[in-house]
Amino acid sequence: MTASAPTGPLPKYHQLADHCRGAIQAGSLLPGQRMPSLRALMAQHMVSLTTAMQACRLLESEGWLEARPRSGYFVRQPSVGLLAPVNDPPMQRAPDAAQYVGIHAKVSQFLSLGRLQRFKTNLSVARCAPELYPAEALQQAALRSLRHHPDQLVRAAPPQGCLEFREVLAQRALGAGMRLSAGDIQVTNGCTEALNLALRAVANTGDTIAVESPAFYGLLQTLESLGLKALEIPTSPRTGISVDAVELALRTTPGIKAVVVVPYLQNPTGSIMPNAHKQALLRLCQQQDVALIEDDTYSALVDDAVLREEPLRAIKSWDDSGHVLYCASLHKHLAPGLRLGWISGGRWKARVEMLKFAASRGNERLAQMAAASFIGSAAYDRHLRRLRTTLVTQRAQTAQAVSRYFPEGTRLTVPRGGLSLWVELPQGLSATTLFHAALAEKLVIAPGTIFTNSSRFDSNLRVNCGWPFTPEIDHAFARLGQLVGTLAKTG
Ligand SMILES: Cc1ncc(COP(=O)(O)O)c(C=O)c1O
Repeated sequence: MTASAPTGPLPKYHQLADHCRGAIQAGSLLPGQRMPSLRALMAQHMVSLTTAMQACRLLESEGWLEARPRSGYFVRQPSVGLLAPVNDPPMQRAPDAAQYVGIHAKVSQFLSLGRLQRFKTNLSVARCAPELYPAEALQQAALRSLRHHPDQLVRAAPPQGCLEFREVLAQRALGAGMRLSAGDIQVTNGCTEALNLALRAVANTGDTIAVESPAFYGLLQTLESLGLKALEIPTSPRTGISVDAVELALRTTPGIKAVVVVPYLQNPTGSIMPNAHKQALLRLCQQQDVALIEDDTYSALVDDAVLREEPLRAIKSWDDSGHVLYCASLHKHLAPGLRLGWISGGRWKARVEMLKFAASRGNERLAQMAAASFIGSAAYDRHLRRLRTTLVTQRAQTAQAVSRYFPEGTRLTVPRGGLSLWVELPQGLSATTLFHAALAEKLVIAPGTIFTNSSRFDSNLRVNCGWPFTPEIDHAFARLGQLVGTLAKTG
């Protein structure tokens, strides 16, 4: 699984294959795209027909290309799942009630260690490279908005959010089956504020909240900061939270006020909940009269291949009782810099609006107006399609790097969308130890332990694939793989 050193000059067809493979890895040739014809390859690279054919056959045998009858060669969806997937946890285990005393300190310590260093490569974030977001189009939209409403910077913003923005959000929510009006939407400062408001609306200090395990560390920090207890529920890297385990928890643990789930591309595992699980979870929450906080930070990044099988469907779309507080964000798929998110609070709508007003008043207009103009246009759909296609390639390149460089026994779940991979080290090796060893070399990863308050997931790490896969990133994975190899030898 380590990269083999080149020996002697490569035959011409190998060199040509290397060149084409590099173009695919760099994203210059995208999955589904037609390869230049054999004739074009012959002319561009001054090689014979035999050499061009041999190069394409080699790439086909490696899984990079597929031949389609009478149409030529096409770039394949890169083969993923090269490594065995990360194991499911035992799903029926009775959860341990855990008070998150100290979780904040633990997470913050890791984050600040990562930030303190002037790192070379940061694989610990969960967002895309700035160049993958539509900076220029958003800038134009903001300038247009300022021209049309020159006084917007000096007028107070509406507490619930700009109507224009809430209207396009409501329109787009139809795509996930939700019938909302602009009045159902409260604009927030990212999903972080939406989650804070949701939790504060449904729970009081000392209450218990059921969360996925592992869970997004920011949620654990929020729970700690609000004085709430978290109950970690086993979560499959494929199908998300165990509904049976939630049921068991609701039966056996008194005082659970809410369940928080990320149905699409859970952070950190990337799981997607099947619709049947979402409906069962909603029924359970309705029967037990418990709030269901749906964190939909990532659904815009679900692969098109998945969407062709089944359109997006938010849990909120089945909610006829108002038990779901739906929280979303533009951070991951459109513009981290705008810090825009929103919440539809269901039966807690009025309380959410009051809490938002008390906490921070309305979000500033300009960001909302720029986002509204872009999201309301066809350019938004084009941007999302392009971003999702790019992420397919980057995810596959990252998965291939892990499988190439990490020692045997490493496990990896490649999600069907998004910008992160969840890796499990072999032989129970500690990703916390790896984190410190990597930091010494100015490489940052997100160790599994920050996604839980338990001692679980110490062998896991989350790595980012939102950046174009450059030689520098390839090198970082090669070095990480060597560090894991050293850990394996030294125990
Ligand atoms: C699952 C999940 N929810 C919420 C957030 C926070 O979103 P925002 O940056 O919009 O506040 C994140 C960010 O990483 C996340 O992964």
